[in-house]
Parts: sequence; structure tokens; C-alpha cells
Amino acid sequence: MRRAFAAVFVALVLPSAAGAQPGVGVKAKTGKGLYAAFCLSCHGVDGRGVSSTSHPPGVLDLRGLGPPLKRVGALAADFYLTTGYMPLADPYHQPRHTKSPFDNREIAALVAYVASLGKGPAVPRPQPQQGDLSRGLSLFTEHCAGCHQVVAEGGYVTNAVAPPLHQATPVQIAEAVRIGPYLMPRFPASQITDAQLNSIIAYVLWAKHPDDPGGWSIGRIGPVPEGLVAWLIAATALVACCLVIGRRYQQ
Ligand code: HEC
Ligand code: HEC
Repeated sequence: MRRAFAAVFVALVLPSAAGAQPGVGVKAKTGKGLYAAFCLSCHGVDGRGVSSTSHPPGVLDLRGLGPPLKRVGALAADFYLTTGYMPLADPYHQPRHTKSPFDNREIAALVAYVASLGKGPAVPRPQPQQGDLSRGLSLFTEHCAGCHQVVAEGGYVTNAVAPPLHQATPVQIAEAVRIGPYLMPRFPASQITDAQLNSIIAYVLWAKHPDDPGGWSIGRIGPVPEGLVAWLIAATALVACCLVIGRRYQQ
């Protein structure tokens, strides 16, 4: 009985405790207040950007600390905040997917504030369930796999890491494709339609949990690295054979 009571207690208290997380714990809970505290130093007053030339150009050749946010809209604000890309610690570092220091209410307030700075795109509502998996695979291979690998495990491009996509939600995938964060190219609707985007998202979601074909998956890193691993083992075995034969000859 006591145990059951404890379980009910935990079930009731824990989620509400998590939900009541204070976020960054600043007094200003309005989007404008949060912006002033965490974003203004790099993105400037009213999102005009900080383009001082006294700073060395970063990897994006961005002179200054942060780009203007006037027309990025709710779409980019939602992407950069829900992925924890922003607030950035160092303007010359690549943003990475981490847990946001803000809670959901603070993110919503910041997104609304950035959206109010100018006319920009709204947060997209993708429908991956309407997508087609095999079309998604061929579109992903054509447009994305060069950087993110065919199974969406991520990879390296010059000066940047193309992250694995298993952490990204359908909305974040749709946003990333339209924004082209950091060194990723932007794909407007003229290049990838919303229907094609649904198929790409369906494929990325599937690639997170592919039907397991059995065998040794090597972390499902794709056919090329898998081939390399096979060659590496074969090459090591060959060298070992040569050494053994060579030693026999010496004797
Ligand atoms: C240390 C400086 C710095 C801070 C602080 C910072 N940013 Fe940024 N922000 C950047 C840089 C640099 C980029 C460009 C990076 C990129 O394109 O991936 C950027 C990009 C963005 C973008 C995308 C702009 C576009 O053109 O698509 C948004 C939206 C954004 N930041 C919002 C915010 C918000 C909201 C905050 C506060 C919570 C914040 N940033 C804090 C430096 C900063
Ligand atoms: C030229 C290389 C390149 C191509 C092509 C590319 N990406 Fe990216 N992608 C990147 C890089 C680099 C980042 C990291 C951005 C950052 O750190 O700000 C990224 C980030 C992402 C993210 C955010 C992941 C996360 O959780 O942080 C998603 C989702 C994404 N890409 C999807 C796609 C899709 C879908 C396509 C094809 C339509 C695509 N990318 C094509 C390089 C690329």
C-alpha cells in the first residue's frame, strides 16, 4: 500500500516539478526582456544585427557578432531556439544541438518577439505521414546525403560538422531545409516543394529506426564506411599473412 502510494506520489509530483522548471530564471519573462538579456549583445537593438568590423570575420565571413533578425520570422527563431543553437556562446563557433536553457514558455515568448521585428515566414507544419518513403530516400540522396550521409548519421564538410539528424523533430527538419543554417545550403520551395519535403522528413524519421536487416550494423554508418571496415580487416589479415610468410623465409 505504501509503495503504491509512493508511486502515485512520484507520478504526480515529478512531471509537475519538471514542468515548473524555472528556465533561465530571469525576472523578465517577456520576449523583449529575454531578448535584451540574452540576444541583444550579438543581434542588436530591434534585431538590426551587430556588424562591427573590429572583429575578425568568422567561418561564415560574418563580420561582427550576429546577423540581423528583422526578416527571419518565427521559422528561424523557432529552429535556432528549440535546437538550443541559440543563445550562442561564441559568435565564431558553429551552433550545436543541445538542450535549450529556456523553457517552452520562454521560447514561445522569444519566437513571438523575433517574429514581431519584421515580416518573415511562420513556423512550418510538415505532414510526414503524407510523404512517400522511397521518394524521400531518392530526394535525400540527391540533396542531403552528400553532407549528412545516406542514413542521416551526419558527417564532416569543410569547416563544419553536418550533424546526425536523429535529434531533429519533423518541424526542425522542415525549418532547417528552408533556412540552411550555418554552412548548409537553403532549399526554397522552388527547389524542394512542401510535398517533397514531407517525403524527405518521412525518410529521415524512418532512418532513425530502420527495419533491422540483421548482421553487423557498425552503427549503420552506410555502405562506403562499411566497405572500408571490411577492407581494413582484409588488409590487416593480408599484412599479418605476409609477416608470417616473410618470417618463415628468414628462418
Ligand atoms: C554570441 C553571439 C550570439 C548570441 C548571444 C545570440 N546569437 Fe543568434 N546568431 C549568432 C550568429 C553568429 C548567428 C549565425 C549562425 C548561423 O547562421 O548558424 C546567429 C543566428 C541566429 C538566427 C538565425 C538567423 C538567420 O539569418 O537565419 C536566429 C533566429 C538567432 N540567431 C536568434 C537568437 C536569439 C533569439 C538569441 C537569444 C536567445 C541569440 N540568437 C543569441 C550569434 C549570437
Ligand atoms: C553542404 C552540406 C549540407 C547539405 C547538402 C545539407 N545539410 Fe543539413 N546541415 C549541414 C550543416 C553544416 C548543419 C549544421 C548547422 C549548424 O550547426 O548551424 C546542418 C544541419 C541540419 C539539420 C539540423 C540538425 C540538428 O539537429 O542540429 C537538419 C534537420 C538538416 N541539416 C537537414 C538537412 C536536409 C533534410 C538536407 C537535404 C534537403 C540537408 N540538411 C542538406 C550541412 C548540410
